[in-house]
Amino acid sequence: FKQSRKDDIWLVDFYAPWCGHCKKLEPIWNEVGIEMKNMGSPVKVGKMDATSYASLAAEFGVRGYPTIKLLKGDLAYNYRGPRTKDDIIDFAHRVSGALIRPLPSKQMFEHVQRRHRVFFVYVGGESPLKEKYVDAASELIVYSYFFAASEDVVPESVVLREVPAVLVFKDDTYFIYDEFEDGDLESWITRERFQNYLTVDGFLLYELGDTGKLVVIAVIDEKNTSIEHTRLKSVIQEVAQDYKAHFRRDFHFGHMDGNEYINSLLMDELTVPTVVVLNTSNQQYFLLDRQIENASDMVRFIDNILNGTVEAQGGDSILQRLKRIMFDARTTVVSIFKSSPLMGCFLFGLPLGVISIMCYGIYSADTDGGYMEEQYEISKSEMEGQDFMEESREQQEPSDGEPVMPPMHEPKDALEKKKD
Ligand SMILES: *[C@@H]1O[C@H](CO)[C@@H](O)[C@H](O)[C@H]1NC(C)=O
Ligand SMILES: *[C@@H]1O[C@H](CO)[C@@H](O)[C@H](O)[C@H]1NC(C)=O
Ligand SMILES: *[C@@H]1O[C@H](CO)[C@@H](O)[C@H](O)[C@H]1NC(C)=O
Ligand SMILES: *[C@@H]1O[C@H](CO)[C@@H](O)[C@H](O)[C@H]1NC(C)=O
Repeated sequence: FKQSRKDDIWLVDFYAPWCGHCKKLEPIWNEVGIEMKNMGSPVKVGKMDATSYASLAAEFGVRGYPTIKLLKGDLAYNYRGPRTKDDIIDFAHRVSGALIRPLPSKQMFEHVQRRHRVFFVYVGGESPLKEKYVDAASELIVYSYFFAASEDVVPESVVLREVPAVLVFKDDTYFIYDEFEDGDLESWITRERFQNYLTVDGFLLYELGDTGKLVVIAVIDEKNTSIEHTRLKSVIQEVAQDYKAHFRRDFHFGHMDGNEYINSLLMDELTVPTVVVLNTSNQQYFLLDRQIENASDMVRFIDNILNGTVEAQGGDSILQRLKRIMFDARTTVVSIFKSSPLMGCFLFGLPLGVISIMCYGIYSADTDGGYMEEQYEISKSEMEGQDFMEESREQQEPSDGEPVMPPMHEPKDALEKKKD
């Protein structure tokens, strides 16, 4: 593989035999392989046990499992999207093909418009802007499609003030890159590569972090057809559509099915349906203590966030990080008990038992000798006396050589193991 891999374009799944996500991917991966072959794709699909070929995997920078990479010549592109057949195949097509795809005719343009919900187009001849466009595309081809067209191919509805230009087509409209307002082309593309309204999941939320925008999320139960759930979703959709021009620089909109992910992100218990506005750049969020009634109500809430009238919660301060540690520990304990109560009793009951016995021991020592009070005396001789008391107490401990262990260690180790 090492010698001949540069003769072909490869799509490789680096997996580990023991990893659960890899096992989940396996049937999907087989389908990807079959479909790519049936389509006559030049991309070869393979998989490699990264634990058996650890040094090769390390060469490709594989750190987690499964890692999906497209290898093209000297370049390796990471796949970061959802692990579904269609998404993976789309990625392979996009990255294995031309970096900048020419659009030679109006028909081609319309075809692309029907097929892709978000795509970028460079309009014009050779220019410094085109060089920047090519540079940006070589980084961002993993996320989006990049085309080039001449002015006469672009639909009549598009008004170009000057050529060359870079445009993004999405949400039934287009936006033109403006070097002075939008800054660097690559970061503009990073911000604009998402549709305005999205079906949000944990993965997408993480990706949206790159944009630095705020995300307005309707947290609903998609299976619940009651009016509260459907109305909230349509209110957000309405605001996303009608206030595109007003909010699109600062906001994305969407809905999320279920509150599980968002609960763990916010370390809170949200009752669905509700609206959360999340600042992706600093983990702060905004909640409303009442239901959103209609679109103008929602717009007022967003305006209040923008002018600082609504107080932000969360964030990434030290206090929040401590809270996160406590929260994670609690969820781990709860999940251990949920998945296996017996195991939970053993893991936490045993140390608790030991602690109880020790407390009992201390308590009896306390009432017997009363040395606990003496601890507060500063006299040196008494301190020594107390040491002596403690030593004698230790000798009374069970004689199997088990030292007085710091009682908190065992549950903590167990937690860490569970987390690993
Ligand atoms: C649907 O949501 C409403 C309002 O939140 C709730 O009262 C109702 O119990 C839910 N129905 C189901 C089937 O979950
Ligand atoms: C979101 O977070 C960024 C980074 O901390 C901050 O500059 C910005 O003002 C925040 N936005 C809002 C609306 O709070
Ligand atoms: C929207 O909801 C607000 C608050 O409940 C209410 O005052 C307002 O009249 C509503 N607007 C429309 C157009 O229904
Ligand atoms: C913030 O915006 C809201 C709604 O537009 C307005 O009612 C409020 O007075 C504003 N507050 C400040 C401090 O500007």
